[in-house]
Amino acid sequence: MCPCGLWCLWDCLMLWFGSRTLTTINAQKEIGKSLGQAYRGWVCSRKVRLRIVVWRGGRDDLRSSGMTTAATPLSERSAWKALAQHAAAIKDVHLRTMFAEDPARGERFTAEAAGIFLDYSKNRVTGETLKLLVSLAEESGLKGRIEAMFTGEKINITENRAVLHVALRAPKGESIFVDGVDQVPPVHVVLDKMSDFADRVRSGEWKGFTGKKIKNVVNIGIGGSDLGPVMAYEALKHYSQRDLTFRFVSNVDGTDFAEAVEDLSADETLFLVASKTFTTLETMTNAHSAREWALASLKDDAAIAKHFVAISTNAKEVSKFGIDTANMFEFWDWVGGRYSMDSAIGLSTMVAIGPDAFREMLAGFHAMDVHFRTTPFAENLPVLMGLLTVWYTDFFDAQTMAVLPYEQYLKRFPAYLQQLTMESNGKHVTLTGEHVATETGPIYWGEPGTNGQHSFYQLIHQGTRLIPCDFIGFYKTLNPLGRHHDMLMANVFAQAEALAFGKTAEEVKAEGVPEALVPHKVFEGNRPSNVILADKLTPKVLGTLIALYEHAVFTQGIIWSIDSFDQWGVELGKVLATRILGELEGTGELKHDTSTNRLIEKYRANK
Ligand code: F6P
Repeated sequence: MCPCGLWCLWDCLMLWFGSRTLTTINAQKEIGKSLGQAYRGWVCSRKVRLRIVVWRGGRDDLRSSGMTTAATPLSERSAWKALAQHAAAIKDVHLRTMFAEDPARGERFTAEAAGIFLDYSKNRVTGETLKLLVSLAEESGLKGRIEAMFTGEKINITENRAVLHVALRAPKGESIFVDGVDQVPPVHVVLDKMSDFADRVRSGEWKGFTGKKIKNVVNIGIGGSDLGPVMAYEALKHYSQRDLTFRFVSNVDGTDFAEAVEDLSADETLFLVASKTFTTLETMTNAHSAREWALASLKDDAAIAKHFVAISTNAKEVSKFGIDTANMFEFWDWVGGRYSMDSAIGLSTMVAIGPDAFREMLAGFHAMDVHFRTTPFAENLPVLMGLLTVWYTDFFDAQTMAVLPYEQYLKRFPAYLQQLTMESNGKHVTLTGEHVATETGPIYWGEPGTNGQHSFYQLIHQGTRLIPCDFIGFYKTLNPLGRHHDMLMANVFAQAEALAFGKTAEEVKAEGVPEALVPHKVFEGNRPSNVILADKLTPKVLGTLIALYEHAVFTQGIIWSIDSFDQWGVELGKVLATRILGELEGTGELKHDTSTNRLIEKYRANK
């Protein structure tokens, strides 16, 4: 029977159940899910199935959001068209004028939630812009898609998976069902197991093979299994147990491993092998090298159980590697790699800061989750930030976004955000497989603020590109030292002010600057930024801040109608590297393009 026909039948059944026996949409969905699962067995073509899941997602969206145009291509949505006209009208309006004409702007264009204050008044938007952006979010079915994520629907359609990082921070007692199974209780089972383990390592109760206390913890992982852990360790170092040393190995470049263990003793070192799949080339290569390094000094396979634990969704591969699955911390396929730092992948964070602080971090994530799910879009921090990114990317041709933390502990935050944002929204096809009609995910980059001021800020202030900036600062420092913190924060406010208002030629001339130098000293201004403020960098605030960006990324993906949760773009390079590896180690004939052949030959001759 044709798939379309079956789905029509399914929909009729849904309507019948809906009208006869069921009163809630959720109940309809549960029955729909079971019927859908049974049906999936009938469909053999992956492409056909994908299209059907997309279609069904659109229908769910319509049902739950009440929107009627969610599946309309972006450039045909009425809010989009209105935004295009509006953008043309306000493109040349300067922020100086906007502030001059609206004395309340600096107060009005702000929002605060979950301990985070967002000043977005220095963006090139008016009240009308915001109204239209919010309409775009509504017309794109954002509300329904948020609900779909929070209720465990399989919104990662190309992998047919739920996207449930929000379940990782759901309090005990909440329920989120996937395929009829509540996913929250197992999250807390793993959290408890992690807590027990972390306490044992921190207290010295967990001993190495020779009976010595563990002094060093080395996390081996890459991508989401590394960037989150490193960023969180650095961000929360202030709260970490200082008699433990933490190292992070990710690169397959042997130097990374060699330098990480250079001054460590194997009998005092614990390796956390973090990999969702437990098949990632870099991680497995480093894990095998770690095994050899440990055994070279401990000289007994039985030592592995004391010095290696695994964090993975793949128990089979974990045992194949030789790690007892009793020493494995589990997570689930609905946790995307770049959304996994609050799962067991965060074990190094928990060992560093302790289970209580880790749970505070989860509470921070959860506070932002609740805000995102329940707050009207016009006051919703992640929605506003996501929409502003769409605004600049698609109507101002902005290619990049700078994230500039004025907090030394957040030095790895921009690197972490690069995977979160770019692996999520670096997509060129829509959910239905068509080429997108607009630009999608911008390039995110950044460095701690004052350092950046003395390197790349020149281009942000006076270059030819528009680079919207997020400045992140805190009212209090964790390390009070003379006037340092006031100086640091003075720079946040000064940079945002300078970018927005600049300095006119008249102002420069009035300072007595020679005529020839005037153009060089003019700051055009009208360069947008957000200022994000919080009390001080605590585990809770870190969680809230990360969730803010996670949900901003989600918002962008919904507007662009792309799958923010797959990452097929990393596959081709992996496959080619595996093939080329064999060729680098062999002498066989090469069948690549002439450039690649020549490079391989050169390497073979000189290695
Ligand atoms: O190559 C990309 C990627 O799949 C990321 O999405 C992921 O975070 C990383 O590799 C590591 O994957 P794993 O945790 O399975 O080793």
